[in-house]
Amino acid sequence: MRVVLLGAPGAGKGTHCKRIADRYGLVHLSSGDILRRERAEGTELGQKAQSYMDAGALVPDDLIVEMMSRAIRQAPPTGYVLDGFPRTVNQAQVLDKSLAAQKSEIDIVLDLRVDDPVVLERITGRRSCPDCGAVYHVKNMPPQRAGVCDKDGTSLVQRPDDTEAVVRNRLETYYQQTKPVVDYYRAARTVDEIDANGDADEVAAVIFRKLAALARKEVR
Ligand code: AP5
Repeated sequence: MRVVLLGAPGAGKGTHCKRIADRYGLVHLSSGDILRRERAEGTELGQKAQSYMDAGALVPDDLIVEMMSRAIRQAPPTGYVLDGFPRTVNQAQVLDKSLAAQKSEIDIVLDLRVDDPVVLERITGRRSCPDCGAVYHVKNMPPQRAGVCDKDGTSLVQRPDDTEAVVRNRLETYYQQTKPVVDYYRAARTVDEIDANGDADEVAAVIFRKLAALARKEVR
């Protein structure tokens, strides 16, 4: 199964992609996580991406497309769930072309819809584990012990781009450059819109109903 999850910053893409990947045995390909790993390792790509990420702007398409194409080529046959990619119409077009060349295609596009005030509240309250990548929220999904990862006891950190000022830039970038990706897909296929303002378990239940319907179709 090949899934694309679209949505604004803080819509819950990472949260739900992890759950989808676990349930269906897919690989979770998050462009943001891959870039943060590259930064942590001090690679040339990580260094090039740094200033864009810190400002809440998009990293140039050529760097992203090469990075994600490599990750997709290495995905297992069970499939993948794309988180944060494609994020411009150009990225979506290049992805479609490269999948078509491999006689492959995206099976389902889900668009998580969330209101701007919810985005701000979620992102400024997000904390994550620098070791295993688990994501929490100080109010909505707190760890059992404040500031400490439930899985490995590591101290949780706040992403440097999760300040209110940068989140506002990320939202603007989203409306200008990423929202048109929804229209790009909608012109050629169904895009499943999901109200993602509610509780994470309720949102996950809606997503899983859509994926179960797709899996039933694929079996027939
Ligand atoms: P990226 O890491 O992709 O950031 P983003 O798209 O801004 O998305 P987030 O990771 O902030 O949010 P999310 O939707 O995953 O929400 P989450 O599940 O964590 O990108 C970072 C940067 O990298 C970009 O700004 C750009 O510079 C660069 N980049 C990445 N991809 C690129 C590309 N393709 N092209 C160019 N540049 C690129 O949830 C957020 C919080 O809310 C968490 O605390 C969570 O616990 C909580 N939460 C989630 N769902 C719920 C719920 N339903 N109810 C209550 N709380 C919830």
